Amino acid sequence: MPVRMPRDNIVLVGFMGAGKSVCGRLLARRLGRCFVETDDMIVVREGRSIPEIFRTGGEARFRALEAEAIELLRLKSGEVIATGGGLPCRAGRMEALRDLGTTVWLAGDLAMLSARARRTGQRPMLAGRSAEAIEELYRAREPYYRQADVVVDTTGLGPDQVVARVLTALRDRDAARV
Ligand code: S3P
Repeated sequence: MPVRMPRDNIVLVGFMGAGKSVCGRLLARRLGRCFVETDDMIVVREGRSIPEIFRTGGEARFRALEAEAIELLRLKSGEVIATGGGLPCRAGRMEALRDLGTTVWLAGDLAMLSARARRTGQRPMLAGRSAEAIEELYRAREPYYRQADVVVDTTGLGPDQVVARVLTALRDRDAARV
């Protein structure tokens, strides 16, 4: 019989700039849990940066690596997991993430998200895209994020406040289940 892990991970999803990395790290520290990011898993396994992966293999290669990362996440339990902004946005991906534990969508105003995403890090999905094209990308992704178990609106909030809201939302959800 295969051993089934108790999958009580907390899985953060959301658009680029939502604060999944910063808030995820903080949340993990608050809860005394390990923190892992799918982007880091991919970079370490490939030995190349995300822009390099996009440059050499295109988006298709990166998405295939994300699928592999999901498989590896199935070994994890009790961790806080931050996913790349595009990872949940394929058929069956939200189901796979929900199977890992509780999924949390860090939602927010698109103008704020894209301003933040442009300020920090190199993001191939934003490079050369107009504001309209980014909005289109966001609208196409929203239905996937919306499938998360918990939604936290981060608009106007700093990382500490976001984490406090996530913790409250998770506790409310637990209380509603007993
Ligand atoms: C991507 C988001 C990035 C990273 C990659 C692709 C996307 O992660 O996975 O550049 O398609 O939205 P963040 O959401 O952490 O920026």
